Amino acid sequence: MIKIITAMTNEKVIGKGKVLPWRIKEELAHFKKTTLNNTIIFGQTTYQNIPSLKERTIIVLSNNMSFIPNENDTVLRNLDETFLNQYKGEKNLYVCGGASIYKLFLPYTDELIISYIKHNYVGDVFFPDFDTEQFKLIRSENYSEFVVKYFQRL
Ligand SMILES: NC(=O)c1ccc[n+]([C@@H]2O[C@H](COP(=O)([O-])OP(=O)(O)OC[C@H]3O[C@@H](n4cnc5c(N)ncnc54)[C@H](OP(=O)(O)O)[C@@H]3O)[C@@H](O)[C@H]2O)c1
Repeated sequence: MIKIITAMTNEKVIGKGKVLPWRIKEELAHFKKTTLNNTIIFGQTTYQNIPSLKERTIIVLSNNMSFIPNENDTVLRNLDETFLNQYKGEKNLYVCGGASIYKLFLPYTDELIISYIKHNYVGDVFFPDFDTEQFKLIRSENYSEFVVKYFQRL
């Protein structure tokens, strides 16, 4: 299954420049717990601006031939059927942003895991528009600074 995991404000802000507009420990813990021991994919910009993550298989999407990821992480040069087909069954791929990667994977996404941040942080990077009619809310979890909503494709 392909699962998008993201955090956004109610205005769909996901970033400010190359970083997150907020620092919410509990939200990072939710991200860690959800993605641990799974395969995760980032765009090159996000990957270069986060600390290295342990106990996950990391794939970075980049067209730049001179970009070399950290040891143990791999690069995907372009998204194709062969890659997507690996995640048609039980195996999960967590799509972890940024905006360009969310947009690219939205048509293939089975599940959305969205942390809605309660405070209205200002930013300049937004989650792409998508057809909410294509997804059904399955469950939600309330935390002090955010609410996690799980949506499945209908
Ligand atoms: N709130 C959240 O949950 C969350 C999560 C993640 C990121 N973010 C935020 O999102 C922002 C970054 O988003 P962004 O859209 O600017 O950057 P990004 O998606 O992280 O990375 C963009 C880069 O990915 C590569 N790429 C994109 N599409 C590709 C394709 N089809 N084939 C090959 N490579 C491709 C390109 O790298 P090359 O230039 O190397 O080719 C491109 O420059 C930051 O503000 C970050 O904090 C927020």
